[in-house]
Amino acid sequence: MRVIIRDTADEASRLAAQQIIDGFTPPGRLGVATGSTPLPLYRELREAYARGEFTLEGSTAWALDEYVGIDKDHPERYRNVLLTELVGNGGTGLAAEDLKTPDGKAEDPEEAARIYEQMIAPGVDIQILGLGSNGHIGFNEPFDSLNSRTHVGLLTGTTRQDNARFFDDDISQVPVHCVTQGLATIMTAKSIVLLAFGERKAEAVARIVEGAVTQRWPGSILQFHEDVTVYLDEAAASGL
Ligand code: GLP
Repeated sequence: MRVIIRDTADEASRLAAQQIIDGFTPPGRLGVATGSTPLPLYRELREAYARGEFTLEGSTAWALDEYVGIDKDHPERYRNVLLTELVGNGGTGLAAEDLKTPDGKAEDPEEAARIYEQMIAPGVDIQILGLGSNGHIGFNEPFDSLNSRTHVGLLTGTTRQDNARFFDDDISQVPVHCVTQGLATIMTAKSIVLLAFGERKAEAVARIVEGAVTQRWPGSILQFHEDVTVYLDEAAASGL
């Protein structure tokens, strides 16, 4: 793992964006994360698109995960979040139909997971990742299998509490299940860019970068990947 630390999240996001701008060859397959962490990175990519330095035209973007059962129009449905970030606001050249997300509204979520796994199986060129405060990546929660493929997962209380801020601070509105790429699916990416910012992530960062590879800290599996760059601000790096 390469670890890059900058004073602020904005500075680290700029460097992460530059890695993607320099390293992504269109038409390609870009793996995209949700959560608040990658938002400054997506802004950088939109600005680079506006300057003609980057484009997702003709490329596909692949979400890590989706909530099960969330309303089609809900602003926190990950498909909607990613449409806003990558297609809306001036966009990145990505066409809406080229944004691929697991179908959280499928009658049979297990089948939706199998279909998504088949579609993503060739792997993505670059995978953008955030990190849960409990060490999750995608929605692979502590003690989930390290060898999983896209599956229906159960969100932990910690994650639902963390994400309640997107749901009127009301944990009861946060979905309980998700469809998520598995850890083994994520590991098929050719290259991985992980971002983590803020004191709240400091322990998880220290565990996944310097700790043992363990199901307790799912992101620690990334130590076995040969091309991972971790971008941190000072606060998130404070446990290293
Ligand atoms: C969410 C997502 C993850 C994300 C993480 C961190 O639940 N499923 O992909 O990386 O939690 O979120 P945030 O960036 O808002 O801290």
